[in-house]
Amino acid sequence: MAAKVLAIANQKGGVGKTTTAVTLGSALARAGKKVLLLDLDPHACATLHARIYAQDIGHSLHDLFLAEESQWPELWNKIIRANALAHIDIAPGSIRLAELELDLRERKGKGAILLRGMRHVLPQYDYIVLDCPPHVGILLVNALVAADVLIIPIQTDFLALHGLKLLFDTLGILNKALGKPVFYRAVPTMFDKRTKACNRVLALLQEKMGSSLFSTIIGIDTRFREASAQGCTIYDLDARSRGALCYECLAKEVMSLW
Ligand SMILES: Nc1ncnc2c1ncn2[C@@H]1O[C@H](COP(=O)(O)OP(=O)(O)OP(=O)(O)O)[C@@H](O)[C@H]1O
Ligand SMILES: [Mg+2]
Repeated sequence: MAAKVLAIANQKGGVGKTTTAVTLGSALARAGKKVLLLDLDPHACATLHARIYAQDIGHSLHDLFLAEESQWPELWNKIIRANALAHIDIAPGSIRLAELELDLRERKGKGAILLRGMRHVLPQYDYIVLDCPPHVGILLVNALVAADVLIIPIQTDFLALHGLKLLFDTLGILNKALGKPVFYRAVPTMFDKRTKACNRVLALLQEKMGSSLFSTIIGIDTRFREASAQGCTIYDLDARSRGALCYECLAKEVMSLW
């Protein structure tokens, strides 16, 4: 077994990245897959969602980025929290991840630290999900370099479309640096079929992105907020709810990518 790595990223904030990382991860775990979620966001929302609090974290992903390569196997054991949320293992994030840009300024090959570090955990999982921060920087670059697929949640909202150009500019730069295009799929989120604006944005996305768009559309569902408030997933609240079924469909599409 060698895990497939799913980077959940979009430079735009609040589009459903963390919700997708947690819920897709949970849907994959419900399908019998072994899942590890890495919280690469300094705001550590996925970590907080799992009710892992800063004061209780001995080691976070920040330590991995700074450690010597020989320390990595031992560090992973200290970082990973088994079954932290809905049968997903979680590697917590930390506010100190925000300092990485400075911490790593002299480090050679700093864009591939995660790729190299993850080799030690790939054999233990089916999927490793990366919850990325909403800005371009060393964390996003590490995530994209390490990813087998980039999953871009796109809020079905006109303002969200404007942020997309930025993301594709970044991808263009990275494609050149890597010498190969990053494989990506986008997923429309927070879709409210009753509103004209949502329908128009969805039609635009389908027209512009074609087969780069997953068929699954994530509908709006208030239970997502409820789940994060309760430190559980939508599957624990109502496994037959709209939001739960949407991510179940997305998980099936993801599993059929390879
Ligand atoms: N499909 C949905 N229906 C309703 N609410 C949703 C849905 N997806 C996400 N939300 C809510 O929208 C808010 C933002 O979502 P989330 O935190 O997943 O976005 P994000 O892209 O990770 O944000 P950030 O860029 O700040 O990390 C959260 O309160 C979440 O519960
Ligand atoms: Mg987030």
